[in-house]
Amino acid sequence: MEAVLLVSDLLMENSSISAMVVNHAGLVIFINPTYLNILGKTEDEVVGKFIGDITPDTRTLFVLRTGKAIVGYNWTIGGYKMIACALPLIKNGKVIACFAYSLFMDIWDAKDLAENLMCELNMYKDEVRNLYSSRYTFKDIIGDAQAIRNVKFLAQQAARHSSTTVLITGESGTGKELFAHSIHNCSSRYNFPFVRVNCAAIPENLLESELFGYVEGAFTGARKGGNPGKFELANGGTVFLDEIGEMSFAMQGKLLVVLQEKEFERLGSNQPIRVNVRVIAATNRDLEDMVEQNRFREDLYYRLNVIRLEIPPLRQRLEDMPLLIRYLIPKLNVKLRTSVIDINEDAVKQLLKYSWPGNIRELENILERAMILADVERSNSIDTKHLLFMKGKLSYNCAPFTSTLKTSMEEIEKQLIAKAMEDNGYDKALAAKALDIDLSWLYKKLKKHGIQ
Ligand SMILES: Nc1ncnc2c1ncn2[C@@H]1O[C@H](COP(=O)(O)OP(=O)(O)OP(=O)(O)O)[C@@H](O)[C@H]1O
Ligand SMILES: [Mg+2]
Repeated sequence: MEAVLLVSDLLMENSSISAMVVNHAGLVIFINPTYLNILGKTEDEVVGKFIGDITPDTRTLFVLRTGKAIVGYNWTIGGYKMIACALPLIKNGKVIACFAYSLFMDIWDAKDLAENLMCELNMYKDEVRNLYSSRYTFKDIIGDAQAIRNVKFLAQQAARHSSTTVLITGESGTGKELFAHSIHNCSSRYNFPFVRVNCAAIPENLLESELFGYVEGAFTGARKGGNPGKFELANGGTVFLDEIGEMSFAMQGKLLVVLQEKEFERLGSNQPIRVNVRVIAATNRDLEDMVEQNRFREDLYYRLNVIRLEIPPLRQRLEDMPLLIRYLIPKLNVKLRTSVIDINEDAVKQLLKYSWPGNIRELENILERAMILADVERSNSIDTKHLLFMKGKLSYNCAPFTSTLKTSMEEIEKQLIAKAMEDNGYDKALAAKALDIDLSWLYKKLKKHGIQ
């Protein structure tokens, strides 16, 4: 029963589904806000009214008459192309009502199309990115918070020292790649190539030849005339070793030798090649931790960690949120062909409550979804109702993202206990009761987490 109630909540809140129930006599007994929006009517104008008078093309009357479901038909209502289903609700062999729901076709079309295109696009992007030089500069890195300003300042210094190795760390989506591009573009190497190697995407057995190239006949399937590696292609410019934390231990050893000796051989050759490149490496892994666990070579770590840029996560610079949103909305309008111009204060407040494990990339994705929903409603401002899909996420927002399940669980535990204490006026007995744990257990936990 609870699940049924949740479904009905979902229908009330989900703005991409329009839903309605009509009773055996064809009178509307339930309709959700999205459907009302499409019809341009209020609940009073619809509930209790005959559906045939409201939408003459309705199929619900057919379903009520025949007891047969109609699944997946197209229809246009209020100017929207929708894909719809009308299902009979049957009790004791009698049709007592009809449940009908529709989805916006343009969302579906656009989404499918966009997803396929994005897939293809990502594949080509990687290649094109390697063919042309990098696109971003420091002015594309948005942020006024002290934490990001400090990193930007350090990165600008790094750009000036055009042979110094740079290690960029930070959670997923914080802008590591953006920084790598900017450093290259603001260095004296900007006229030379910026070559990105995604160490996670290239199969281990191919990585060596990708990086250092091969000569004809080096292995079966080797191209005639051989092939230059990324280090050779980048000569004069920058090699960006992205996701370096995913590189195998063996490959790390080979890379170290090249960085130390500043020369390498193509696979199958013994002719040393010297190139002039700057190496920038990036990862969202905790390399120190990996070194401790013998999963990342300590010597390579020190070789890379010359200038270290630690990009702060978004939740540590929430004051930048309005600035980022103002920057991202027009950018996304171009991509989505929408014309959203604003976001209201309550919606911003809601975004500020979230912990942003996926950082700016996630912010981009969430704004994108909200903008599509706003656009479907012909609204040019993002409102909290366009963020309803975040509800599930928000319930977890007390848990900041940490790298392991164990630390995340401990963090959640700590926050729940702290909250129970606060909510119960710091009365331990009450807090233990609220948490449904023994008082002695609570004492232990308070001590463990250092909660006063
Ligand atoms: N400070 C910023 N200002 C504006 N846009 C940003 C900023 N930081 C990141 N972005 C945007 O967020 C997205 C993710 O950035 P990027 O790819 O550089 O992250 P990343 O740290 O390399 O993530 P991952 O670890 O997942 O590879 C990009 O679209 C980028 O343009
Ligand atoms: Mg990246």
